Amino acid sequence: MNTVYSVEEIRDYVRSVKAEGKTVAFVPTMGNLHNGHLTLVTKAHELADVVIVSIYVNQMQFGPNEDYHSYPRTMAQDEALLREHNVDMVFAPSANIIYPEGLDNHTTVKVDSLDGMHCGKTRPGFFTGIATVVTKLFNIVQPDVAVFGEKDFQQLSIIRKMVKDLCIPVEIVGAPIARADTGLALSSRNGYLSQEEREQASLIYQELLKAKEAIVAGNTNYDIIQRDAIASLAGYGFQPDYFNIIRRSDLLPAAPGDKELIILAAAGLGKARLIDNLQIDL
Ligand code: PAJ
Repeated sequence: MNTVYSVEEIRDYVRSVKAEGKTVAFVPTMGNLHNGHLTLVTKAHELADVVIVSIYVNQMQFGPNEDYHSYPRTMAQDEALLREHNVDMVFAPSANIIYPEGLDNHTTVKVDSLDGMHCGKTRPGFFTGIATVVTKLFNIVQPDVAVFGEKDFQQLSIIRKMVKDLCIPVEIVGAPIARADTGLALSSRNGYLSQEEREQASLIYQELLKAKEAIVAGNTNYDIIQRDAIASLAGYGFQPDYFNIIRRSDLLPAAPGDKELIILAAAGLGKARLIDNLQIDL
Protein backbone atom coordinates (compact mmCIF):
# COMPACT_ATOMS: atom_id res chain seq x y z
CA MET A 1 0.00 0.00 0.00
CA ASN A 2 1.23 3.46 -0.90
CA THR A 3 -0.01 6.95 -0.18
CA VAL A 4 -0.08 9.43 -3.05
CA TYR A 5 -0.79 13.12 -2.82
CA SER A 6 -1.31 14.51 -6.32
CA VAL A 7 -4.07 14.20 -8.91
CA GLU A 8 -1.56 12.93 -11.50
CA GLU A 9 -0.27 10.14 -9.24
CA ILE A 10 -3.69 8.76 -8.34
CA ARG A 11 -4.88 9.03 -11.95
CA ASP A 12 -1.77 7.17 -13.18
CA TYR A 13 -2.39 4.45 -10.63
CA VAL A 14 -6.07 4.05 -11.54
CA ARG A 15 -5.23 4.05 -15.25
CA SER A 16 -2.68 1.27 -14.72
CA VAL A 17 -5.02 -1.00 -12.71
CA LYS A 18 -7.90 -0.44 -15.13
CA ALA A 19 -5.55 -1.34 -18.01
CA GLU A 20 -5.09 -4.70 -16.27
CA GLY A 21 -8.87 -5.15 -16.42
CA LYS A 22 -9.36 -4.54 -12.68
CA THR A 23 -12.33 -2.76 -11.11
CA VAL A 24 -11.89 0.01 -8.54
CA ALA A 25 -13.84 0.66 -5.32
CA PHE A 26 -13.42 3.97 -3.52
CA VAL A 27 -14.02 4.96 0.11
CA PRO A 28 -13.80 8.72 0.76
CA THR A 29 -13.01 9.68 4.39
CA MET A 30 -11.75 12.56 6.49
CA GLY A 31 -9.37 10.22 8.37
CA ASN A 32 -9.13 9.52 12.09
CA LEU A 33 -10.36 6.10 11.12
CA HIS A 34 -12.41 3.80 13.34
CA ASN A 35 -14.22 0.50 12.83
CA GLY A 36 -17.09 2.25 11.02
CA HIS A 37 -14.71 3.35 8.27
CA LEU A 38 -13.11 -0.09 8.22
CA THR A 39 -16.45 -1.83 7.60
CA LEU A 40 -16.71 0.33 4.46
CA VAL A 41 -13.27 -0.91 3.40
CA THR A 42 -14.37 -4.51 3.93
CA LYS A 43 -17.47 -3.86 1.83
CA ALA A 44 -15.33 -2.21 -0.86
CA HIS A 45 -13.18 -5.36 -1.10
CA GLU A 46 -16.34 -7.37 -1.80
CA LEU A 47 -17.29 -5.03 -4.64
CA ALA A 48 -14.11 -4.56 -6.68
CA ASP A 49 -10.56 -5.80 -7.27
CA VAL A 50 -8.77 -2.70 -6.02
CA VAL A 51 -9.67 -0.52 -3.01
CA ILE A 52 -8.68 3.14 -2.80
CA VAL A 53 -9.31 5.24 0.34
CA SER A 54 -9.04 9.01 0.40
CA ILE A 55 -8.16 10.94 3.53
CA TYR A 56 -8.98 14.61 3.23
CA VAL A 57 -10.43 17.00 5.82
CA ASN A 58 -12.57 19.11 3.53
CA GLN A 59 -12.66 22.70 4.75
CA MET A 60 -15.61 23.55 2.48
CA GLN A 61 -17.99 21.44 4.58
CA PHE A 62 -17.08 23.11 7.90
CA GLY A 63 -18.87 26.23 9.11
CA PRO A 64 -16.79 29.21 10.31
CA ASN A 65 -17.36 28.29 13.98
CA GLU A 66 -16.96 24.54 13.54
CA ASP A 67 -14.04 22.23 14.29
CA TYR A 68 -12.06 22.33 11.01
CA HIS A 69 -8.82 23.32 12.72
CA SER A 70 -9.17 20.93 15.65
CA TYR A 71 -10.60 17.98 13.65
CA PRO A 72 -8.40 14.98 14.59
CA ARG A 73 -5.66 14.29 12.03
CA THR A 74 -3.98 10.93 12.63
CA MET A 75 -2.36 10.05 9.31
CA ALA A 76 0.26 7.52 10.47
CA GLN A 77 -2.28 5.58 12.55
CA ASP A 78 -4.80 5.67 9.67
CA GLU A 79 -2.24 4.36 7.18
CA ALA A 80 -1.37 1.48 9.53
CA LEU A 81 -5.05 0.51 9.85
CA LEU A 82 -5.61 0.69 6.10
CA ARG A 83 -2.51 -1.41 5.44
CA GLU A 84 -3.84 -4.04 7.88
CA HIS A 85 -7.10 -4.00 5.92
CA ASN A 86 -5.35 -4.63 2.60
CA VAL A 87 -6.19 -1.29 1.05
CA ASP A 88 -4.31 -0.89 -2.23
CA MET A 89 -3.81 2.86 -2.37
CA VAL A 90 -4.42 5.92 -0.19
CA PHE A 91 -5.06 9.33 -1.73
CA ALA A 92 -4.27 12.11 0.74
CA PRO A 93 -4.32 15.43 -1.13
CA SER A 94 -3.53 18.72 0.56
CA ALA A 95 -5.86 21.72 0.44
CA ASN A 96 -3.87 23.38 -2.35
CA ILE A 97 -4.45 20.33 -4.55
CA ILE A 98 -8.22 20.34 -4.01
CA TYR A 99 -8.77 24.11 -3.81
CA PRO A 100 -5.75 25.66 -5.56
CA GLU A 101 -7.49 29.03 -5.84
CA GLY A 102 -9.03 28.92 -2.36
CA LEU A 103 -12.59 28.24 -1.32
CA ASP A 104 -14.28 31.51 -2.16
CA ASN A 105 -14.24 31.40 -5.93
CA HIS A 106 -14.81 27.69 -6.44
CA THR A 107 -17.58 26.04 -8.44
CA THR A 108 -20.04 24.30 -6.13
CA VAL A 109 -22.45 21.40 -6.43
CA LYS A 110 -25.72 21.76 -4.52
CA VAL A 111 -28.45 19.14 -4.37
CA ASP A 112 -31.17 21.72 -3.81
CA SER A 113 -34.04 19.50 -2.73
CA LEU A 114 -32.11 17.82 0.10
CA ASP A 115 -29.62 20.54 1.06
CA GLY A 116 -31.47 22.72 3.57
CA MET A 117 -33.28 20.16 5.73
CA HIS A 118 -32.21 18.26 8.89
CA CYS A 119 -28.44 18.77 9.31
CA GLY A 120 -28.42 21.29 6.45
CA LYS A 121 -30.72 23.56 8.43
CA THR A 122 -28.31 23.93 11.34
CA ARG A 123 -25.18 23.71 9.19
CA PRO A 124 -25.67 25.95 6.12
CA GLY A 125 -23.25 25.06 3.34
CA PHE A 126 -22.39 21.69 4.90
CA PHE A 127 -23.89 19.50 2.20
CA THR A 128 -22.82 21.78 -0.64
CA GLY A 129 -19.27 21.37 0.68
CA ILE A 130 -19.71 17.60 0.72
CA ALA A 131 -21.33 17.35 -2.73
CA THR A 132 -18.61 19.55 -4.20
CA VAL A 133 -15.68 17.62 -2.76
CA VAL A 134 -17.21 14.22 -3.53
CA THR A 135 -17.76 15.30 -7.16
CA LYS A 136 -14.12 16.34 -7.33
CA LEU A 137 -12.90 13.14 -5.71
CA PHE A 138 -15.01 11.07 -8.13
CA ASN A 139 -13.60 12.98 -11.09
CA ILE A 140 -10.05 12.58 -9.80
CA VAL A 141 -10.23 8.88 -8.84
CA GLN A 142 -12.83 7.73 -11.40
CA PRO A 143 -13.85 4.62 -9.44
CA ASP A 144 -16.41 2.06 -10.59
CA VAL A 145 -18.09 1.98 -7.20
CA ALA A 146 -17.97 4.09 -4.01
CA VAL A 147 -19.03 3.08 -0.50
CA PHE A 148 -20.67 5.45 2.01
CA GLY A 149 -21.99 4.81 5.52
CA GLU A 150 -25.69 4.89 6.40
CA LYS A 151 -24.57 6.63 9.59
CA ASP A 152 -24.65 9.83 7.52
CA PHE A 153 -27.94 9.01 5.87
CA GLN A 154 -28.68 12.49 4.54
CA GLN A 155 -25.17 12.61 3.03
CA LEU A 156 -25.74 9.22 1.37
CA SER A 157 -29.11 10.36 -0.03
CA ILE A 158 -27.55 13.54 -1.39
CA ILE A 159 -24.73 11.65 -3.06
CA ARG A 160 -27.12 9.15 -4.63
CA LYS A 161 -29.25 11.99 -6.02
CA MET A 162 -26.24 13.97 -7.21
CA VAL A 163 -24.81 10.96 -9.08
CA LYS A 164 -28.19 10.30 -10.68
CA ASP A 165 -28.93 13.92 -11.60
CA LEU A 166 -25.46 14.62 -12.99
CA CYS A 167 -25.02 11.20 -14.69
CA ILE A 168 -21.81 10.51 -12.79
CA PRO A 169 -20.76 6.97 -13.77
CA VAL A 170 -20.11 5.68 -10.24
CA GLU A 171 -22.24 3.08 -8.45
CA ILE A 172 -23.08 4.16 -4.89
CA VAL A 173 -23.28 1.49 -2.19
CA GLY A 174 -24.45 2.12 1.38
CA ALA A 175 -23.07 0.24 4.40
CA PRO A 176 -24.85 -0.23 7.77
CA ILE A 177 -23.99 1.79 10.89
CA ALA A 178 -21.18 0.34 12.99
CA ARG A 179 -21.93 0.77 16.71
CA ALA A 180 -20.05 0.36 19.99
CA ASP A 181 -21.34 -2.31 22.40
CA THR A 182 -23.36 0.40 24.15
CA GLY A 183 -25.22 1.14 20.90
CA LEU A 184 -23.40 4.44 20.31
CA ALA A 185 -22.76 4.95 16.58
CA LEU A 186 -18.99 5.10 16.00
CA SER A 187 -17.76 8.53 14.96
CA SER A 188 -14.48 10.42 14.82
CA ARG A 189 -16.17 13.11 16.92
CA ASN A 190 -16.80 10.64 19.79
CA GLY A 191 -13.18 11.42 20.68
CA TYR A 192 -14.41 14.80 21.95
CA LEU A 193 -16.47 13.03 24.68
CA SER A 194 -15.36 12.29 28.23
CA GLN A 195 -15.80 8.71 29.48
CA GLU A 196 -18.98 9.73 31.27
CA GLU A 197 -20.37 11.55 28.21
CA ARG A 198 -19.58 8.55 26.05
CA GLU A 199 -21.85 6.39 28.19
CA GLN A 200 -24.54 9.06 28.17
CA ALA A 201 -24.22 9.38 24.37
CA SER A 202 -25.75 5.95 23.77
CA LEU A 203 -29.06 7.37 25.05
CA ILE A 204 -29.61 8.81 21.55
CA TYR A 205 -29.78 5.25 20.22
CA GLN A 206 -32.08 4.27 23.10
CA GLU A 207 -34.46 7.10 22.14
CA LEU A 208 -34.40 5.96 18.51
CA LEU A 209 -35.25 2.41 19.57
CA LYS A 210 -38.05 3.64 21.80
CA ALA A 211 -39.56 5.72 19.01
CA LYS A 212 -39.24 2.83 16.56
CA GLU A 213 -41.05 0.55 18.98
CA ALA A 214 -43.95 3.01 19.23
CA ILE A 215 -44.15 3.43 15.45
CA VAL A 216 -44.00 -0.31 14.75
CA ALA A 217 -46.79 -0.76 17.35
CA GLY A 218 -48.94 1.53 15.20
CA ASN A 219 -48.54 4.94 16.81
CA THR A 220 -48.79 7.50 13.99
CA ASN A 221 -48.60 10.62 16.17
CA TYR A 222 -45.18 11.34 14.72
CA ASP A 223 -45.08 14.95 15.92
CA ILE A 224 -45.70 13.85 19.50
CA ILE A 225 -43.12 11.04 19.33
CA GLN A 226 -40.58 13.57 18.03
CA ARG A 227 -41.41 16.11 20.72
CA ASP A 228 -41.18 13.51 23.49
CA ALA A 229 -37.80 12.26 22.27
CA ILE A 230 -36.43 15.81 22.11
CA ALA A 231 -37.69 16.48 25.64
CA SER A 232 -36.11 13.24 26.91
CA LEU A 233 -32.77 14.05 25.29
CA ALA A 234 -32.81 17.57 26.74
CA GLY A 235 -33.63 16.03 30.14
CA TYR A 236 -30.55 13.78 29.88
CA GLY A 237 -28.36 16.83 29.29
CA PHE A 238 -28.10 16.84 25.48
CA GLN A 239 -28.65 19.95 23.36
CA PRO A 240 -31.03 18.32 20.89
CA ASP A 241 -31.01 19.71 17.37
CA TYR A 242 -33.69 17.56 15.73
CA PHE A 243 -35.39 14.19 15.93
CA ASN A 244 -37.25 13.76 12.65
CA ILE A 245 -39.43 10.87 11.53
CA ILE A 246 -39.23 11.02 7.75
CA ARG A 247 -39.54 9.05 4.52
CA ARG A 248 -36.34 7.42 3.28
CA SER A 249 -37.19 8.25 -0.36
CA ASP A 250 -37.20 12.05 -0.14
CA LEU A 251 -36.38 12.83 3.52
CA LEU A 252 -39.69 14.68 3.96
CA PRO A 253 -41.89 14.26 7.07
CA ALA A 254 -43.55 10.85 7.26
CA ALA A 255 -47.33 10.62 7.16
CA PRO A 256 -49.53 7.70 8.20
CA GLY A 257 -49.47 5.14 5.38
CA ASP A 258 -45.81 5.72 4.45
CA LYS A 259 -43.91 2.44 4.69
CA GLU A 260 -40.18 3.09 4.34
CA LEU A 261 -39.25 5.41 7.16
CA ILE A 262 -36.14 6.56 8.94
CA ILE A 263 -35.67 8.60 12.09
CA LEU A 264 -32.79 11.05 11.87
CA ALA A 265 -31.49 12.52 15.12
CA ALA A 266 -28.83 15.10 15.96
CA ALA A 267 -27.83 16.44 19.36
CA GLY A 268 -24.95 18.24 21.00
CA LEU A 269 -23.24 16.65 24.00
CA GLY A 270 -20.29 18.38 25.65
CA LYS A 271 -17.99 19.43 22.81
CA ALA A 272 -19.43 16.96 20.29
CA ARG A 273 -22.30 17.12 17.85
CA LEU A 274 -23.66 13.58 17.47
CA ILE A 275 -25.90 12.18 14.76
CA ASP A 276 -27.61 8.84 14.51
CA ASN A 277 -30.54 7.23 12.71
CA LEU A 278 -32.74 4.17 12.61
CA GLN A 279 -34.63 2.74 9.64
CA ILE A 280 -38.17 1.44 10.00
CA ASP A 281 -40.05 -0.75 7.53
CA LEU A 282 -43.77 -0.87 8.17
P1 PAJ B 1 -16.10 10.75 7.51
O1 PAJ B 1 -16.89 11.35 8.59
O2 PAJ B 1 -14.64 10.46 7.74
O3 PAJ B 1 -16.81 9.42 7.07
C1 PAJ B 1 -16.33 8.67 5.97
C2 PAJ B 1 -17.35 7.58 5.66
O4 PAJ B 1 -17.47 6.71 6.79
C3 PAJ B 1 -18.76 8.14 5.39
O5 PAJ B 1 -19.35 7.45 4.30
C4 PAJ B 1 -19.49 7.84 6.71
O6 PAJ B 1 -20.88 7.69 6.56
C5 PAJ B 1 -18.82 6.53 7.11
N1 PAJ B 1 -19.00 6.26 8.56
C6 PAJ B 1 -18.64 7.05 9.61
N2 PAJ B 1 -18.99 6.50 10.77
C7 PAJ B 1 -19.62 5.33 10.47
C8 PAJ B 1 -20.24 4.29 11.24
N3 PAJ B 1 -20.30 4.34 12.57
N4 PAJ B 1 -20.77 3.24 10.58
C9 PAJ B 1 -20.73 3.18 9.21
N5 PAJ B 1 -20.16 4.12 8.43
C10 PAJ B 1 -19.61 5.18 9.05
O7 PAJ B 1 -18.38 11.53 5.73
C11 PAJ B 1 -17.29 12.09 5.57
O8 PAJ B 1 -16.15 11.70 6.20
C12 PAJ B 1 -17.13 13.27 4.62
O9 PAJ B 1 -18.31 14.02 4.60
C13 PAJ B 1 -16.74 12.84 3.17
C14 PAJ B 1 -17.81 11.98 2.51
C15 PAJ B 1 -15.38 12.10 3.17
C16 PAJ B 1 -16.57 14.11 2.30
O10 PAJ B 1 -15.64 14.98 2.83
